[in-house]
Amino acid sequence: MGDWQSAAKRAAAYYAVDHFVQSGMRLGLGTGSTVAFVLERLAQRLQTGDLRDIAGIPTSEATAQRAQALGIPLLSFDDVQSLDLCIDGADEVDPSLNLVKGLGGALVREKIVASASRSMVVVVDESKIVPKLGTRAPLPVEVLTFGWQLHEAWLRSLGVEPVLRRTAQGEPFVSDNGNYIYDCHFPQGIDDPMRVEAAINNRPGVVENGLFLGYATQVVIGMESGDVVVKR
Ligand code: 5RP
Repeated sequence: MGDWQSAAKRAAAYYAVDHFVQSGMRLGLGTGSTVAFVLERLAQRLQTGDLRDIAGIPTSEATAQRAQALGIPLLSFDDVQSLDLCIDGADEVDPSLNLVKGLGGALVREKIVASASRSMVVVVDESKIVPKLGTRAPLPVEVLTFGWQLHEAWLRSLGVEPVLRRTAQGEPFVSDNGNYIYDCHFPQGIDDPMRVEAAINNRPGVVENGLFLGYATQVVIGMESGDVVVKR
């Protein structure tokens, strides 16, 4: 990641916290390097007393640990069943604010949290903006470990190039939910995201895919120039 990208992620994250989070909110806390800056800003504003009575549901073990270390109060769905706002990153954002997410491996919990939230603010640097989904990042598909071997040929039959995600040690990557992930490359990008989403999620053994269609209410973009742009 270039220096400008890190600065752009921080700028987008700080802007989102400063403009969209209010005291008393129940938040969804996304996952990834941009959300790390969201957590940093939330913690700063809680410490200064600028924000009060904030608590969030984390979308991954990594976010839970980071938030706990920063003193951000956490909740679970035992405590609340709807959230005021979720803030999360993305791997791709198209002109309709549809997203591909999940390169960080947290797509299932991220989609559950987004679906329980009244609005979703997405924080990205400008490299994530694409004319068409599937052109910059692969589409992650999380599958149960039982029968995982059956999905590769099926995904290929859809015209997709699936690659089982592995750790640096070459072992299959295991999500926080104990599942595997196929990263699916679309040679021409994703022409019809709704059809792809329905086809993939209808497959027995598929837990969820990384298409987030119609979830984002605002996208905060940190630009290489240093500016921040908001799309809604
Ligand atoms: C994790 C995600 C992340 O939001 C996405 O990968 C963006 O991450 P980063 O902010 O590190 O670029 O979907 O599952």
